[in-house]
Amino acid sequence: MSDHDFVAALLQRMTLAEKIGQLNLLSAGEGPETGSPAVRNVQGRLEAGQLGGLFGTKSVRSVRAWQEIALAGSAHGIPLFFAEDVIHGHRTIFPLPIALGCAFNPQLWHDVARVAAIEASAEGINHVYAPMIDIARDPRWGRIAESPGEDPYLASRYAEAMVKGFEGDDPTALDTVVSCLKHFIAYGAAVGGRDYDNASLSPEDTIGVYAEPFRAGIAAGAGSVMGSFNALNKRPMHAHREMIRGWLRGKAGFEGLMVADYTGIMELSAHGLGDRETVAGLALIAGIDMDMMGEDYLNHLPRLAKEGLSRPESGIEISAAEICSAVDEACGRVLLLKKRIGLFDDPFRYCDDDRAAKATLAPAHRRLARTSITESSVLLKNDGVLPLEPGSRIAMVGAAADDRTNLLGTWSVSGDHRQAVTLLEGLHAAHDGPITCVKGSDIVEDPILADRLNVHGQTVFLDTRSATTMIDEAVAAARAAHVTVAVVGEAREASGECSSLTDITLPHPQRVLIEALAATGTPLVLVVKAGRPLALEQEMKLADAVLFVWFTGTEAGHGVADILTGEADPSGRLAASFPARTGQVPVHYQAESTGRPYPGRFEKFKTGYLDLPDTIPAATGLFPFGFGLSYTRFSYSKPTVDEARLKGPDAVAVLRVTVTNEGERTGTEVVQLYISDPIARITRPMIELRGFEKITLQPGMSREVVFHVARRDLAYAMGESLLDVEWVWDPGVFVLRVGRNSRDLQGIPIHWDA
Ligand code: BGC
Repeated sequence: MSDHDFVAALLQRMTLAEKIGQLNLLSAGEGPETGSPAVRNVQGRLEAGQLGGLFGTKSVRSVRAWQEIALAGSAHGIPLFFAEDVIHGHRTIFPLPIALGCAFNPQLWHDVARVAAIEASAEGINHVYAPMIDIARDPRWGRIAESPGEDPYLASRYAEAMVKGFEGDDPTALDTVVSCLKHFIAYGAAVGGRDYDNASLSPEDTIGVYAEPFRAGIAAGAGSVMGSFNALNKRPMHAHREMIRGWLRGKAGFEGLMVADYTGIMELSAHGLGDRETVAGLALIAGIDMDMMGEDYLNHLPRLAKEGLSRPESGIEISAAEICSAVDEACGRVLLLKKRIGLFDDPFRYCDDDRAAKATLAPAHRRLARTSITESSVLLKNDGVLPLEPGSRIAMVGAAADDRTNLLGTWSVSGDHRQAVTLLEGLHAAHDGPITCVKGSDIVEDPILADRLNVHGQTVFLDTRSATTMIDEAVAAARAAHVTVAVVGEAREASGECSSLTDITLPHPQRVLIEALAATGTPLVLVVKAGRPLALEQEMKLADAVLFVWFTGTEAGHGVADILTGEADPSGRLAASFPARTGQVPVHYQAESTGRPYPGRFEKFKTGYLDLPDTIPAATGLFPFGFGLSYTRFSYSKPTVDEARLKGPDAVAVLRVTVTNEGERTGTEVVQLYISDPIARITRPMIELRGFEKITLQPGMSREVVFHVARRDLAYAMGESLLDVEWVWDPGVFVLRVGRNSRDLQGIPIHWDA
């Protein structure tokens, strides 16, 4: 019997109440929560057959126990599935997704997801709420930390690789999990960078930018999608029938499970769509299959299935038959997911204590975590002070230098920071000279902010000593050293969910500390830990080297020390642009052409900012997308194309460029390909990424990198409304641009006839 036939037969035997029970999704309450649950009665729900899935379990033992209750409570022996937020690793924590984005390496993304799947599945988890693929262009938004960055092409490659890493080829394989693309859609476009706030976007940006990674993830086989909290163009996403049924299922061909985000259905009431009964009906009809935490389906669908939903004042008329058929459809999808992964055959098949013990923090997993730090850290400046001289005397300064609590970053819900390696430990292990470590300053000074940052456990410790005493101690250590390594940045909770900021410069006490350290004259290296791009205009002037490591995870100290000592070449390139100042955001490289283009410096009556120095590009920020230095130097030959004139839909433009390592060290470069479409029917971004290749070259070595550009790579989204959007292209001139980042490019025109 096929899985579909199995589900159809089972649905026939189920009562309405049993079907509605399957649509309920609750947290086990074994870890931190991200909202206020409407109820907390998991056991009661299970005994009554009123739960389809559970998330947030923390052990094989608890999975087994909950599953036993679920089976006993279900007349048809329907098992639960178990979900979890496995965002950048499960037990072995990898760098943040925004950091992984900087790796520009699909194989790495795949392998990271694979390791996470191996660790999570061994503990009975079948479904992960990842990858998060929200395009994020506003670093005030704390959830940029969870996102692969600002660019739809890069995020799409990330989505595909992660989905394949999680799901593998065989859904019944014990070490695979169902992935979940989130958050659908435009969650990252929150106005003002305020988490949960709404977004207003053109149809072109919605489909061409924000939906692109979803399209890619679905094509790669993602089994589920999660709705987003925001409204898009005034329509809340948990009731957005046009985007869910119309685009996601209709146009993108998604056949998997659509889950609500945490109380996302209930929140439709606060969005102003009506009472709880109304919003339950609206969400179901819009296409949300499972209700997470709000229990509005459980409470209201039984009546709606009998009476329908009539709200003439809001123009809502939904018949009881429509509700019943939507319940069948949604329940069918929940059951199909469970059937596909083998839970009906053996509900305990994923619970394996031995496998869990072997998988958790396995040496190979830690090794991958370590190299992923090299791949995702971005060297922003280096006046020659890095790598550190062997045997040199180092002053290591900063509240985060010898701190374990802030290493893992946001959404590391199953990671244990006690297993993580501090930066001081890592440097001690890798460097043979003396290291003195002092705090220098608190992470933040405001006690109210400190309290807010400590909401999920203490990570900010306000010192009893005065700021001056701490700075004096740091200055003395710096004076006595050959080099100062200051570890600065954000506390763990400063980025992530509900962690929006109005000011993305470094916190004040750390800025003062950096000024004092720079004034000593001892060469100053900044290691910056953060979950978002920061505005580092001031620090770039004061420091001799700046290495941006994001939140690095379990192997933090080892991975960062590999870079500082020169054992590894930092090969991260920015997945999100860095503004010089907060006021420049949102900032991203896909700036659109304007009628008065920015001329490269301030000019009256041209696009730009009056108060920004001419050295800082107005629209693309201090450091552009794709930027990052290496310990060696790469040169690029003049690019060539095999044919400059192409014709027809099947032609392929071939661009070649030779990259040479001109330095004395082996290094890794990310060769990037962008396109421009100078004449189109609508205003277009000036450039768009269409390819990248990461290559490692020994000193003196050269490699020819070849990019293939198909006609579909020249297409862009255009339409009057969301469902009208088509991918169109215009014959004529295009420019292919290749180089080391989105600002430093060589262009070559081609002509493409229809
Ligand atoms: C987040 C989701 C997450 C869910 C479950 C929500 O607050 O927005 O990304 O998957 O909680 O933990």
